[in-house]
Amino acid sequence: MADALQNYIDGKWVDAQDGDRLDVFNPATGEVIATAPSSKQADVDAAVAAARRTFDDGTFWPGMSARERGRILLNAADIVRREHDRLARMESLDAGKPIGEATEDIAEVAFMFEYYGGWASKIAGESQHMDADAMFMVWKEPVGVAVGITPWNYPLMMATQKVAPAIAAGCTFILKPPEQTPLTCLELPKILEEAGLPTGVFHVLTGFGETAGAPLVAHPSVDKIGFTGSREVGKLIMRSGADTLKRVTLELGGKSPNIVFADADFESAVEGSANGVFWNQGEICSAGTRVFVENAIYDDAVSALSNRATSLVLGDPSGEDTTMGPLVSKEQQERVERYLEIGSGEARVAAQGSTPSDPTLANGYFVPPTIFADVTNDARIAREEIFGPVMSVIPFGAIDDVLTMANDNDYGLAAAIWTKDIKKAMRAAQALRAGIVWINDTQPAPTEMPWGGYKQSGVGRELGKHGLDDYLEEKAVYVNLAD
Ligand code: NAI
Ligand code: MG
Repeated sequence: MADALQNYIDGKWVDAQDGDRLDVFNPATGEVIATAPSSKQADVDAAVAAARRTFDDGTFWPGMSARERGRILLNAADIVRREHDRLARMESLDAGKPIGEATEDIAEVAFMFEYYGGWASKIAGESQHMDADAMFMVWKEPVGVAVGITPWNYPLMMATQKVAPAIAAGCTFILKPPEQTPLTCLELPKILEEAGLPTGVFHVLTGFGETAGAPLVAHPSVDKIGFTGSREVGKLIMRSGADTLKRVTLELGGKSPNIVFADADFESAVEGSANGVFWNQGEICSAGTRVFVENAIYDDAVSALSNRATSLVLGDPSGEDTTMGPLVSKEQQERVERYLEIGSGEARVAAQGSTPSDPTLANGYFVPPTIFADVTNDARIAREEIFGPVMSVIPFGAIDDVLTMANDNDYGLAAAIWTKDIKKAMRAAQALRAGIVWINDTQPAPTEMPWGGYKQSGVGRELGKHGLDDYLEEKAVYVNLAD
């Protein structure tokens, strides 16, 4: 019997009020592994009422000291470390990611709690004297009731990078996890309760975007939305949030350029370029899916990248030898397969890996890793986010041409540059319209570093100190000291 999971609202585990449920699948086999509440407006109303009441009564903020808020987050880090293996296995099972990658994710989740635990006691404002008779202060206050709406590619990380700074800031918080992968997000209430978080601060309700996510965005008692997901839904959230002028931060993925100059260290550039598309099955917002390669090394690079694609081992994500798991859902598998068809009409298939032969995985959502070569920058596979193990390789001659092509896309989340020439690297980094630029590396996203996009990749920044600022308001307090 599949586990029947529940919402966590105001310190209690509850079903959706109408009893409706959704199925949670093992993407490697297509089997149902759990069911979770399909929450609706009534459940949203209950969660928001509790979060609002807890915020407004002042017991959490300013009632609890900043040190104590920090201590709770540090305790949460310890608990995540204690539960690390169990959480990593759960994440791997639910999202279909290789266990080695899930292991790294959970380790970073623990650090996120630690990092923002440290920040809680360092949130300070400013003051300025006008003259002897007047001064003003700028106070940092929590934004209020915050909501996180999160995606399935890094379930616990995407939730934690919103929840941890929100608690550090003194907000109350409602999490709406992805319908595809709610398992680890539903562990958060247990972790935070054991860590000492007071009842009423944190709530989780599962459900679909249209029925559980949309009412949270529209709710007049919610102050802030932190969203990670598709550009399409990001636009809906911005429009709907406008009615009550919510603070909205959006992280909406991309079509990131990965530029390999002929003077790069060839081995590391090939390895990095492949990892930037094939890690996490390519289900990465910042994946370097447009691989620009300088003419002089183009043929060699295409063949080396092809070898990397065909040597990937697709299989059960819990297997030690597996280097690529299934995509997260049937829907995502079909979406990526459509792009494989589109790409076959637009470019040359340079290499394609194989799906697992194991009959127990026959119904899993596997897609063969694929390299398209001789792609033009205006092809659909070079313009649209695919979110699967699909690379488009595009040749280039001059640096100005590649920078023009790299910027010629509506997205602007990330970019990678491979070269031994520091001047070239810095000049390219300066010209690229992207929120994150990696030089001679791909995908590092340390918790200390701000994360977010230019252009249609989003609004605002998460992680680092910047990720805390979005959960804080600034109050200017002016004092007349004259007699
Ligand atoms: P999605 O944007 O529909 O889902 C993300 C979250 O938003 C989920 O929790 C979902 O329930 C919620 N949501 C959906 N519609 C909503 C609405 N109207 N109001 C409020 N919340 C809503 O993403 P989906 O459908 O899972 O994936 C589609 C594509 O989105 C992917 O193929 C990929 O290109 C992109 N994507 C980007 C991600 C990123 O990291 N930036 C993560 C996941 C998907
Ligand atoms: Mg969707």
